[in-house]
Amino acid sequence: MLLKDKICFVSGAGKGLGRAIVEAFLREGAIVYANDREIGSLEIYADNPNVEIMYFDVSDSYADKEAILRIKKEKGCLDVLVNNAGIMTDALIGTISRALMEEIFATNVFGTMELLQLAAKQMISQHSGSIINLSSIVGITGNPGQLVYSATKGAIIALTKTAAKELGPRGIRVNAIAPGMIDTDMMRSIGDIHLQHHISNIPLGRLGRPTEIAEACVYLASDMSSYVTGHILQVDASVLV
Ligand SMILES: NC(=O)c1ccc[n+]([C@@H]2O[C@H](COP(=O)([O-])OP(=O)(O)OC[C@H]3O[C@@H](n4cnc5c(N)ncnc54)[C@H](OP(=O)(O)O)[C@@H]3O)[C@@H](O)[C@H]2O)c1
Repeated sequence: MLLKDKICFVSGAGKGLGRAIVEAFLREGAIVYANDREIGSLEIYADNPNVEIMYFDVSDSYADKEAILRIKKEKGCLDVLVNNAGIMTDALIGTISRALMEEIFATNVFGTMELLQLAAKQMISQHSGSIINLSSIVGITGNPGQLVYSATKGAIIALTKTAAKELGPRGIRVNAIAPGMIDTDMMRSIGDIHLQHHISNIPLGRLGRPTEIAEACVYLASDMSSYVTGHILQVDASVLV
């Protein structure tokens, strides 16, 4: 019970890594505010007394504010924020529209920065808290066809380190996880041929499991990582870096 009675917020929890993170947090005794923009995707938690469902788009700054205010009102504290919601659209250099850039940055970076700031205000008043941002291995290595996506994930690394420096003296830890290729709908969207090619270059010979990211999140959320901040935890078997 590493997270017993901890109040946690997880964005993008309707499927994939977000859902695995919610499940792992619940197993560790947490009370979870689960968010997704897809109405209906969180109904599996409708009867779970330890889950509060919040449907909204994290790129909507008004909705972000309402969500953190609701948690403050209902629980009076926020122990863990997981900025997991993210989108990925591939496009080659020369074909990328401004609208696509703005759409991906709005969710992956602006949503993260809005929620980080709102959560930090609450956590500063408690002088405690752990913030976990989902980056990606491509934010470190780059990847052809992912100019925008990799830039958003590189931004997550930079903002995580800055926030860790600024918020450390206020008792708040800020870390990021940089997953390799994990078996979710997002990863499957690249298509079977590409997927098999990538898997053939992974020394462990397989995709990661969502639970393997969730376990890293439990570590960073819990007191097991009490002396870890500003860290980018690569959960990746591709040995690219
Ligand atoms: N899977 C991987 O291999 C991998 C690798 C590196 C990093 N990551 C990162 O890990 C995170 C989770 O990825 P995943 O593979 O679990 O993706 P996923 O399978 O596509 O699931 C993401 C969930 O987040 C929701 N979401 C997207 N934009 C949102 C928004 N603006 N507001 C609220 N919810 C939103 C999605 O809803 P919709 O279905 O409506 O979009 C979906 O339910 C992302 O940040 C991703 O970049 C994943």
